[in-house]
Amino acid sequence: MRIDILSVLPELLQSPFEHSIMKRAQEKGLLEVHVHALRKWAVNEYGQIDDYQYGGGAGMVMMCEPLAKAIEELSSTNHYAEIIYLTPDGKTFDQRTANMLSLKENILIICGHYKGIDERIRQHFVTREISIGDYVLSGGELAAAVLVDSIGRLIPGVLNDETSALFDSFQDNLLAPPVYTRPEDFRGWKVPEILMSGDHKKIDEWRHEQALLRTKERRPDLTDEV
Ligand code: 6GU
Repeated sequence: MRIDILSVLPELLQSPFEHSIMKRAQEKGLLEVHVHALRKWAVNEYGQIDDYQYGGGAGMVMMCEPLAKAIEELSSTNHYAEIIYLTPDGKTFDQRTANMLSLKENILIICGHYKGIDERIRQHFVTREISIGDYVLSGGELAAAVLVDSIGRLIPGVLNDETSALFDSFQDNLLAPPVYTRPEDFRGWKVPEILMSGDHKKIDEWRHEQALLRTKERRPDLTDEV
């Protein structure tokens, strides 16, 4: 899978994919992440990519031309299954969307800044608009890091059996059960005995029960939506 990201602050996206699972996914050749500075397609030598909004009001708007040129140039060498605009007024991102996007060959992500991008780019190029939650970020870069991480780890072959995404929270609309490691007794706080029993059938049942309990307590909305 190849993910291209268009950003006015590409520096913000240097580190997030250089560690841990994202690093391994790229080393294995399963994921390529390319971050592009939108200023490369600026309208003048000052690197301008934004302008005042028509109708007045505070805040700048990202201009059509740099975005259109960038999208067209990148599209000439990659066929994008999705052109995603990251914006707080997009549809809220969830595991289902991550699963769906992890099956695509190429996607292009546009990070919004300022007041956002000119509406005409949304209408004529963007195929999907995503928000990562009901709060406002200064720009789409951190949201892009969230998207790429959650999608990248789902690409077949990225995770091994031990880290398998099959057992993640949300993968079956359930939160993950509690986990424990050594020591068995820490300051008198003991690990549930069943986990030491060696009875894997019982342990699986216990974990499933705990997952259900947790979900009912903390996220009852998840059990409704199956
Ligand atoms: Cl995708 N962008 C911005 N700027 N803020 C957000 C967001 C995205 N998702 C939640 N808040």
